[in-house]
Amino acid sequence: MGDITRVGVIGAGLMGSGIAEVTARAGLDVVVVEADAAAAEAGRGRIEKSLGRGVDKGKLSAEERDAALARLTFSTDLEACADRQLVIEAVAENEALKLDVFGRLDKITEPEAILASNTSSLPITRLAMATEHPERVLGLHFFNPVPVQKLVELIPSLLTGDDVAEKASAFASEVLGKTVVKAPDRAGFVVNALLIPYLLSAIRMVEAGHATPEDIDNGMVLGCAHPMGPLRLADLVGLDTTKAVAESMYEEYKEPLYAPPPLLQRMVEAGLYGRKSGRGFYDYT
Ligand code: CAA
Repeated sequence: MGDITRVGVIGAGLMGSGIAEVTARAGLDVVVVEADAAAAEAGRGRIEKSLGRGVDKGKLSAEERDAALARLTFSTDLEACADRQLVIEAVAENEALKLDVFGRLDKITEPEAILASNTSSLPITRLAMATEHPERVLGLHFFNPVPVQKLVELIPSLLTGDDVAEKASAFASEVLGKTVVKAPDRAGFVVNALLIPYLLSAIRMVEAGHATPEDIDNGMVLGCAHPMGPLRLADLVGLDTTKAVAESMYEEYKEPLYAPPPLLQRMVEAGLYGRKSGRGFYDYT
């Protein structure tokens, strides 16, 4: 197949737009697929804003920003991924949706193309079994904000080919400049297995009236030197995503530690998703 130069990203939400941005910044040709034109436009806007922020922060020049934008193409048709050597799926954390995307990508792409999922918690093996070529499927899990966080978890399933895992690992480390951690194909992988119980504990503390979100966050930022506290972080990750990841982990391990607390359930039902919807534990409007 040769070096990876043509990448597809499915979904241009918080994570997909970040993955598309860093891949284009690394010099690769990127096709971004969204469900409809409005979502594609919103994704382009997110990428433009983040690239602009990168310029303001002195991380890239205006010329590099323009070159990265020129390497991005937006489409509403999955067929646009037909010539991609690597496709990274980053649609919402919904198993039925992801299974559908993998089943369709399997038919559209060349058999040697690598199909990766940015899932935060769903078993890679299950996604791989939606395809005829499970050996080319694996997890590549990025962290938010993607241009800033230096980690990628690499999750081979029981069926992933060694050559596929090596190639995807080299892409994340050598092309994108990320540090790669190999994680087992178990809900939560490595990072979320620790992070999600921590976020849920903070939500339970708010629920129990133990302390305010501000005091909990100040405690962890000023007392433990975390870059942000757990409630602000849950808002950043998205409360809908936090709940979805917790549910996958609860389904897998059946431990109360992972059960989403009622306050989280209610906030998601109320459309309070955190930063992306304008309100979560904090107000962003
Ligand atoms: N492009 C490139 N660089 C950027 C950038 C962009 N768009 N935006 C910011 N940066 C850089 C800045 O230049 C700065 O770099 P230096 O340290 O070299 O100066 C750095 O990123 C921090 O940026 P800011 O100073 O603007 O912002 P901040 O200090 O307020 O930090 C934050 C914001 C990066 C979000 C920080 O609070 C943080 O790291 N928080 C924790 C985030 C976290 O834990 N993410 C993981 C969530 S879990 C997940 O994603 C996975 C899952 O499955 C749920």
